[in-house]
Amino acid sequence: MFSKLMSMCREYAGRLDVRLTTYYTVLLLGLSLLVCLFCYFRLQHLLVKQVDKILIDETRELMSDITEAADVAAGCRVFEQDIAHRKYYQIEFRVVDSSGTVVYETAQAPRLSLSAPASGFATIRIEGRRSRYRVYHRPMTVLARDLQVFVATTMRHDYELLERFAENVLWGLPFILVLSIACGMISARKPCRIMRDIATIAGGITSENLHERLPVPTSRDEVRTLTETINAMIERLEQSFSHLRQFTADVSHELRNPLFALRGNLEVALAHQRDPDEYRETISDCLEKIDFLIKMVNDMFLVSRFETGKIHLDAQVVNICDIVQDIVDFYAPMAQERSITLRFDRCDMAVILADKTRLLQLLNNLLDNALKFTPDGGTVQLSVHRHRSDIVLSITDTGIGIPEQDLPHVFDRFYQVDSARTGERHGAGLGLQICKRIAEAHGWSIGVKRNEGPGVTFFVTIPVRQ
Ligand SMILES: Nc1ncnc2c1ncn2[C@@H]1O[C@H](COP(=O)(O)OP(=O)(O)OP(=O)(O)O)[C@@H](O)[C@H]1O
Ligand SMILES: [Mg+2]
Repeated sequence: MFSKLMSMCREYAGRLDVRLTTYYTVLLLGLSLLVCLFCYFRLQHLLVKQVDKILIDETRELMSDITEAADVAAGCRVFEQDIAHRKYYQIEFRVVDSSGTVVYETAQAPRLSLSAPASGFATIRIEGRRSRYRVYHRPMTVLARDLQVFVATTMRHDYELLERFAENVLWGLPFILVLSIACGMISARKPCRIMRDIATIAGGITSENLHERLPVPTSRDEVRTLTETINAMIERLEQSFSHLRQFTADVSHELRNPLFALRGNLEVALAHQRDPDEYRETISDCLEKIDFLIKMVNDMFLVSRFETGKIHLDAQVVNICDIVQDIVDFYAPMAQERSITLRFDRCDMAVILADKTRLLQLLNNLLDNALKFTPDGGTVQLSVHRHRSDIVLSITDTGIGIPEQDLPHVFDRFYQVDSARTGERHGAGLGLQICKRIAEAHGWSIGVKRNEGPGVTFFVTIPVRQ
């Protein structure tokens, strides 16, 4: 029972609206108490000041009565008659001469023991009584006689007023408490409701309904910022999911054809008894297709690693001309075999910061395409030159070219221009996508344009600051 109660308390204490209401109540209650205390002491101060003013006036009157009368006692009697009808501030006084002898005093004065207060004013308490008296002490000289005048009045009414004020405050505190709890709950309810709505909708969002968005409140506050941030996050997730779906669909589509072809080859081989040469040919065919699949899977893996940002460049200072020369030397025998003229115009200084392996991969893909799509007897020309503050690497071929409408898409994943055109020279359509990823990772740009004559020119622009 007790543990149930504790867990309920813990659950309530953890709720945002309960916490906000508590802060609000404590704050409002504290502030109210401070204001009441301030008012109490201010009122007390004003009341004492008012009493002091009365005492000064009465003392002045007493002194003038004494001065005007024939002797001190007569003057005091006149004053006593005057003050007899005072209703609220009853005045008591005592006049003492320099030897300490009481010259005159009112009936209540001995009980008040009006001896000299340290300064002009003092507040004294009467033993056994709750009321306090305010005393004003002033020396005076009449006919060469030094006198001490003590005038006092009760402060009962003032302290009664203060007590009533304190009582009212104490009665009012529970009301303030209830009021602040109610106000706190009302003001905390709206933001908490919005938060709960956000949590409910966000909790219901899955990969299936990523197109849904949280309702954005009209008010320009933190809740709106939060909703917009969550919506932006859902949008990014939606994009990532759609990329992933597209990638999966593309991959399965691209893998299906070679796998079916492989299966077909093997089925045909198994259908009848064949001689060893035929089997050898089928196996070599299958191996070729498996090599193609391996290359494709490796390329897809590379593209997906680029997409997830898992590729880290090992940048180093390299002379791009040396690297291009290496790759040209590598492809030279193949070009020679097909009577393709492979040329390289090199510049002297082309030092850049690059990941050598990735740069080789980029050049390899571009040169592979150029040779693949250039008929025998054609020309493939590479060049590295400075253009303003950039180094531009270009590969120009005299091949089959790319139609104008396909140019913007050749760098897309799995994009291949009309396979009937390329005949046997088909690939997976990932080479240029990888080139683009490598260039972007380095901060370079890559593009393609049609030549005036046959063929196309691919170019990579490398800013020299690198
Ligand atoms: N030099 C070029 N001349 C003509 N067409 C080209 C040239 N380079 C690329 N293409 C066209 O762009 C398409 C995409 O090229 P990409 O290198 O991405 O793929 P691929 O060469 O077909 O396959 P992969 O490179 O993955 O083996 C090619 O299929 C081809 O149609
Ligand atoms: Mg290619």
